Amino acid sequence: MKYPEELDFLRAGRLPQKYSSEPMNGKVCVITGATSGVGYETAIRLAKAGATIVTIVRSKDKAAKLKEEIRAISGKEAHCFIADFTDLEQVRNAAEAIVAAYQNIDVLINNAGLHMTTRQLTTEGHEVVFCVNHLASFLITAILLPTMIRSAPSRIIQVNSEGHRFNGLRLNDLTWDKRRYKGLQGYGASKTAQLMTVWELHDLLQGTGVTINAMHPGAVKSAIGTNNGLLYNLYSRYIIQPMLKSPVISGEALYYLASSPNMNGISGKFFNLTNEEISAKHARDREMGKKIFEISQELTHTKIDPIR
Ligand SMILES: NC(=O)c1ccc[n+]([C@@H]2O[C@H](COP(=O)([O-])OP(=O)(O)OC[C@H]3O[C@@H](n4cnc5c(N)ncnc54)[C@H](OP(=O)(O)O)[C@@H]3O)[C@@H](O)[C@H]2O)c1
Repeated sequence: MKYPEELDFLRAGRLPQKYSSEPMNGKVCVITGATSGVGYETAIRLAKAGATIVTIVRSKDKAAKLKEEIRAISGKEAHCFIADFTDLEQVRNAAEAIVAAYQNIDVLINNAGLHMTTRQLTTEGHEVVFCVNHLASFLITAILLPTMIRSAPSRIIQVNSEGHRFNGLRLNDLTWDKRRYKGLQGYGASKTAQLMTVWELHDLLQGTGVTINAMHPGAVKSAIGTNNGLLYNLYSRYIIQPMLKSPVISGEALYYLASSPNMNGISGKFFNLTNEEISAKHARDREMGKKIFEISQELTHTKIDPIR
């Protein structure tokens, strides 16, 4: 059956998944948001395959628990750097500490993310979801990039979402001053911005040996949205969660994208788990993408200019 472009996610969502059993010994993998859901399963999968796990997480207690689990699984020490992604200064410090500690970085998985039903601003004045889901991942990528270029071939994977289809991105209103905040659109704005910057980075990284792709990790059980109060939690627990799959499938998919030789040199794509998919048309607006790339550099005080 031929689906129209807008419904390509239905086609991609039905395809069988691909798996990798490629070992990851000696590979340094940085993954954000590894304390829960998608990121947790991915970190465990990578650790089981011998990778060195480096994370940026916001909770010291959760970091200690994660380190203990990874030590038990792999006998290796995971390295957890602490940062709350609503504070870009903390994110910058953590990312700079990572590049100071590691000569090589083989894989970066920007996974940390959230969904909010209400508009909140960070102390710097960014809308929280836009800051955590997009600006923080942009900043980490910018800071880790020189090391990843030196470590090439290396891979960047942005954990995006089919939720980018909700859009909501307006260049003249990133903080939702001019509109009533809608959670799904706020989430869609952040994921659209991230996706647009993937295409820009893909072009900039030509010839460097660093690939960048985005992926939707499936509709899976996780803690996402549980920050939105009792009513949302009850709705999520009893209505949404029973329909969702285990985040183990997300961990396997990210493992495939991070490790499979089939992914050598593949870049600038959007995957539904492990299958390539056409993203929403608005996210392929390259003119707007160039503007959001510039704005993201300004807001994170970065200048991405890969030296080949
Ligand atoms: N679950 C799905 O069905 C689904 C579908 C599409 C896309 N996604 C994407 O998958 C990614 C992972 O989400 P998930 O479903 O696994 O949700 P999750 O279980 O809530 O995990 C989110 C992770 O991000 C971290 N995080 C959230 N806010 C943060 C902040 N301010 N500073 C630092 N870390 C923060 C969380 O840390 P704590 O443990 O400290 O809270 C946690 O480790 C997100 O990018 C999400 O948009 C998920």
